[in-house]
Amino acid sequence: MAKRKNTAYISGKESHYISKRNRKITKKLDKERDNANKDPQLYMTKMHDENNVVELDNVCTYFFTDIGVVRAVDGVSFNIPKKTTVGVVGESGCGKSVTSLSLMQLLQRPTGQVVGGEIRLNNDDGTAYNIVNTPTKIMQEIRGNKMSMIFQEPMTSLNPVFKIGAQVNEVIELHNPDMSKEQVRERTLEMLKMVGIANAEGVYDMYPHELSGGMRQRVMIAIALACSPKLIIADEPTTALDVTIQAQILDLLRSLKDKINSSIMLITHDLGVIAEMADYVVVMYAGRVVEKGTADDIFHHPCHPYTIGLMKSKPVVGKKVDALYNIPGSVPNPINMPDYCYFKDRCEFCMEKCSGEYPPEIKISDTHIVSCYRFIDEGEIVGRPKIIDVEEL
Ligand SMILES: Nc1ncnc2c1ncn2[C@@H]1O[C@H](COP(=O)(O)OP(=O)(O)OP(=O)(O)O)[C@@H](O)[C@H]1O
Ligand SMILES: [Mg+2]
Repeated sequence: MAKRKNTAYISGKESHYISKRNRKITKKLDKERDNANKDPQLYMTKMHDENNVVELDNVCTYFFTDIGVVRAVDGVSFNIPKKTTVGVVGESGCGKSVTSLSLMQLLQRPTGQVVGGEIRLNNDDGTAYNIVNTPTKIMQEIRGNKMSMIFQEPMTSLNPVFKIGAQVNEVIELHNPDMSKEQVRERTLEMLKMVGIANAEGVYDMYPHELSGGMRQRVMIAIALACSPKLIIADEPTTALDVTIQAQILDLLRSLKDKINSSIMLITHDLGVIAEMADYVVVMYAGRVVEKGTADDIFHHPCHPYTIGLMKSKPVVGKKVDALYNIPGSVPNPINMPDYCYFKDRCEFCMEKCSGEYPPEIKISDTHIVSCYRFIDEGEIVGRPKIIDVEEL
């Protein structure tokens, strides 16, 4: 039986306190969002740079669970410029999917809440939505229309009891209420052909279980692109597929992106995929961005020790090694984060300063930003991740 001294042990009293506090905070946050329904001022804002589709500004997404607050995303800032592909990389559990779910407002509520920061989505008329406060009704118009998401699990994202045609039709009908049934069917078939499904008429009348994994993933892409969104969020779109199909799907995504002039936020573990697809790269570690820059900055001049470790652990064709490098240690517990650099305990370049406050964002070139004390004298400090005290919410 767990002893009282054990730090992982939560007493009945503590558990009661945690649930009570969670209920209070989540109720308050939900109420604030509902209030926004009445006043567009509360969720309309302006982009800091009109050339971006999305700007994430110190976004904090926490999960209020029964064992404490999980700081899954804690002060993440990066931009997605128009017509570019931004790759997001990082270890499993570092908050990549939670960042994308915050962007789509698809977090599991009331447990999951964006508690701070702004997510600005360009409305292309001089205004922008702040997704954090946007009411659900407006989000339903934005999702699929302005931005859409290709999910991590292609096998479970389609509804098993509806035919493929009906599932694609639904999205088109929802966002184009004036289209006739015949026009919707035409558009669905066109989309299925566009994503490379040869027998589009046949597939239209099939159920998801009658398709292969690659075909299902293509259908998912067809659904995501049906309304020509300005941003496509692809969360590990190819993890469940074999390498040849993976290459085809990535090619497809790239060509479709150019066709409809949109941007892609591509989340993956696979540095090879990022190298091939991305214009900009964001490296995340334990819920924070540790380095960001152009693909060239990150691949040819990695600066953060974590990025350097990631690059070293990537196999290179033609280079013979006995064993691939692995980064020692593991990610800290997200419920109990230290207040110094999260990578310190695993870092081989660690110095005295690293035991102090979490490192600020340091700009070391026009495009390259890193959060590491090794560069504190070389660059200019451009920001710090926001620290939110849960007790004050
Ligand atoms: N519904 C939830 N309740 C509590 N914690 C959650 C929930 N969803 C995610 N988390 C936590 O948030 C953190 C980030 O998870 P996330 O799914 O974003 O990881 P990821 O970077 O996408 O990993 P992967 O590469 O494995 O997909 C994890 O520590 C996870 O335990
Ligand atoms: Mg994920």
